[in-house]
Amino acid sequence: MAIKYGRPIETRARLHPVETPAQAADPLDLPTRMRRNRRSEWARRLVREHALTTDDLIWPLFIAEGKSTPVASMPGIERLSIDDAVRAAERAAKLTIPCLALFPYTDPGLRDEHGSEALNPDNLVCRAIRAIKKEIPEVGVLCDVALDPFTSHGHDGLMRDGVILNDETVAVLTKQALVQAQAGCDIIAPSDMMDGRVGAIRKALDGAGFTDVSIMSYAAKYASAFYGPFRDAVGSSATLTGDKRTYQMDPGNSEEALREVELDIAEGADMIMVKPGMPYLDILARVKDAFGMPTFAYQVSGEYSMIMAAAQNGWLDGEKAMIESLIAFKRAGADGVLTYFAPRVAEKLKKI
Ligand code: PBG
Repeated sequence: MAIKYGRPIETRARLHPVETPAQAADPLDLPTRMRRNRRSEWARRLVREHALTTDDLIWPLFIAEGKSTPVASMPGIERLSIDDAVRAAERAAKLTIPCLALFPYTDPGLRDEHGSEALNPDNLVCRAIRAIKKEIPEVGVLCDVALDPFTSHGHDGLMRDGVILNDETVAVLTKQALVQAQAGCDIIAPSDMMDGRVGAIRKALDGAGFTDVSIMSYAAKYASAFYGPFRDAVGSSATLTGDKRTYQMDPGNSEEALREVELDIAEGADMIMVKPGMPYLDILARVKDAFGMPTFAYQVSGEYSMIMAAAQNGWLDGEKAMIESLIAFKRAGADGVLTYFAPRVAEKLKKI
């Protein structure tokens, strides 16, 4: 007899609709009552399949020169001065958040066509890495590798005649990765979606003696409207010309995501990421299933802002939506989540 989900299928079919115990002639043929395991909090806790802990969190921080300033499209989020970023790292350590992700807001005057400031060993993000690793070495630091916070056109790569150049961009990205590794970055996270960049970065890191620096590739990254608030935060929405559809993935594709991930693993990625998060849980589940790699989801800025905006309007319970959205990533197979909710959810989990 075919057994699926604990009871013989035929029995389950016969039991539909649910009979009351009195009607069941055969005492062994009692109706399944799914609600028994839900009737009290202790029972729900006992049978819960997935749990969110502070170990699942990567906290993205925006860094800026000078004083901390709010990001208008992301309620509760600021671009932090380096000093405040160090304080955030301290808070992360206290909350046992394992890792931070740093994103610089580059002064518009320092942006150019080639994104040259990305290669300045003393640029904002490198100074932030050094300051954080000096004060709070036990917290991991992840850095984005891509040129968009540094280019005057807001694209992740070099552009000629309106075309984003692949191999020329990869050559610059490997240098950017080295500059960040030299500053003390623990995880290099290429988010640019150029072909071949993971292998090139791995080779460059190893060649320079950074064999212990990890790579988390933004392996399946979609061309998404949900990045809008992030682009405000790093100042690239003002500069971005056109869109990123010639390098980021088409939202209509899923097989292609598996090929992207497979390539990045073959090229040496230690961890992989799917992005955005909630609209792409199917991709996350398939990727985790297919490769069994340490797999991360990025709950992106637009997802954060949607929940915050609805909560501020009183349209939903923000705290509950936050927790529910994050447990969904765990259920889909994520080993961790990059989320702007990280400190808030960690406080809740630790009951602070
Ligand atoms: C840069 C980058 C982006 C995000 C992370 N790294 C934006 C983009 O690709 O345009 C988005 C993160 C978010 O929306 O929170 N390459």
